[in-house]
Amino acid sequence: MKTLFFSLLFFLFSASSFAQSTADDWWKKTTVYQIYPRSFYDTNADGIGDLEGIIQKLDYIQQLGFESIWISPFTQSPQRDFGYDISDYTAIDSVYGDTVTFKRLVEEIHRRGMHLIFDMVMNHTSDQHAWFKESSSSKDNPKADWYIWKDGRGKDGLKRPNNWRSMVGDRAWQYHPARHQFYYHGFLPFQPDLNYNNAEVKKAMFDIVRFWLDKGVDGFRLDIISAIHEDSTLKNNPPSAKLLPSDSKLTIFFQYAKNNFLQEQSFGFATELRQVINEYQSPTRVLIGESHGEESLIKNFCKKDGKDGLHGVFLFKAISEKFDARKYAKMLAGFNHEFADPLIPTLVFGNHDRTRSIDRVNSSVAKAKLKALVQLTTRGIPFVYNGEELGMPNVRIPLKEGKDAVAIANSKVPQFLADLSPETLNRDECRTPMLWSDQANAGFCDSLAQPWLPIVSTYKTINVANQLQDSTSLLNTYRKLLTLRKSIPALNSGSFTLKKDFNDKNILAYERTDGEASYLVLLNMSKKVKEIEPINGTTIFTTHSDSSTQQLQPYEGRIFQLEN
Ligand code: NOJ
Repeated sequence: MKTLFFSLLFFLFSASSFAQSTADDWWKKTTVYQIYPRSFYDTNADGIGDLEGIIQKLDYIQQLGFESIWISPFTQSPQRDFGYDISDYTAIDSVYGDTVTFKRLVEEIHRRGMHLIFDMVMNHTSDQHAWFKESSSSKDNPKADWYIWKDGRGKDGLKRPNNWRSMVGDRAWQYHPARHQFYYHGFLPFQPDLNYNNAEVKKAMFDIVRFWLDKGVDGFRLDIISAIHEDSTLKNNPPSAKLLPSDSKLTIFFQYAKNNFLQEQSFGFATELRQVINEYQSPTRVLIGESHGEESLIKNFCKKDGKDGLHGVFLFKAISEKFDARKYAKMLAGFNHEFADPLIPTLVFGNHDRTRSIDRVNSSVAKAKLKALVQLTTRGIPFVYNGEELGMPNVRIPLKEGKDAVAIANSKVPQFLADLSPETLNRDECRTPMLWSDQANAGFCDSLAQPWLPIVSTYKTINVANQLQDSTSLLNTYRKLLTLRKSIPALNSGSFTLKKDFNDKNILAYERTDGEASYLVLLNMSKKVKEIEPINGTTIFTTHSDSSTQQLQPYEGRIFQLEN
């Protein structure tokens, strides 16, 4: 009966939200489900997910309540970084499908009133891209200046041009004998950075953007946009006291990456790109940038010198923030201060590069529910990585067995040291196949196929089919919250006010209001029962099945609709 009630609510709410979805600001209210296509659903028994698999699971995503889908890259690539190393920007990689399937995917997404966000890797290409092959062939070919080439230092020109490190931690210059020069790579050596000071490069890339817009994509997630420009005088980077990068500061191996990331020019680039996508309307097309760094700095991607740039940037701080009410309150205050209207924060708790969200809270489903509550009821655009709705954990895969290019680059690091790192050095661990059922291979691929990465060992209990049946599951918590968020304007677009003085330091409290109605959200982020003062309102959601009005159970989260 309860399930029927929720299904009815779902259909009512989804119908009304689809009616709004063509509005210019659809992206401000939307909720995004991130698909790592390789691991989502395999329909041709090769052990690798594909575009057809995404089409077949669209109903699932829609019924969960997500309104937009971001798909990690599926264009042609040698797959050394699983699609983030592109060798042809306009061809679909045959591992994932073909152009006919892509066209159907776009149609099927739009038929459901949903939006598609395409992953655009502009910063670098694969070293197998025709542009790089030509550029690296000599110093005077027509594309000689399409990448960042510099002479080496020293008598023999074999010393790197400067001290810059890549995001992965190695030295960011690679020697190329054919040119007797070094090329720059902000990520791995087989991903040479394009030179955006060259107008031809920019034009070629903006035309690729138009190509995909013409194919109907609704926006782009921009891979390491923070690295798009470098200091052209090649100034050395200053030292830093920190060994490892953090979510708010780009430091790597005791170096502060001041001169190869987050340059002023990159913010200007964002405004130029905005002009390109503004050529397309109905619906508005959006740009979401991937950038680490302090919020006060990266917000410049969204607005620079009065000009509009990206619609949003990922705020990664939430991924690694300690599960603590005061810390969350401070973080949310910061997000809302720096990204005050008309800007908007994003809310990210995980992705295909980072240790799974539930592993950061000691596998606690109760805590994962609270994270979902924060993500879906505070102000901002939520991005949910596939599997987070199930509480999928990392799978332990030793560095030496890694297929991930970062694991391969670190394969000499002793495992015990890798284990001390707060983040996984082997991203395979968080990219394992989606858990659809308790059948062989968790229903991800044919029982006779070999999945490209191992399946989570607890898949018999942690899977979509199981959690759909259980009204108290994490998946159903997401579903209920997404349904509420979609139907209540205050939750999807209202103002946000932290209730700093709410009665206990372990309770995170905030209000969302849109002038018509106000909602109070309370999260008890501790293991103790908390007494609360009487609230003049009605509970419309709780993470727990029974809740009393005067108390919050350990790790209980609640939404109250307040009396006017
Ligand atoms: C960030 C992407 O999320 C990651 O998966 C990729 O390896 C790097 N950028 C390089 O493109």
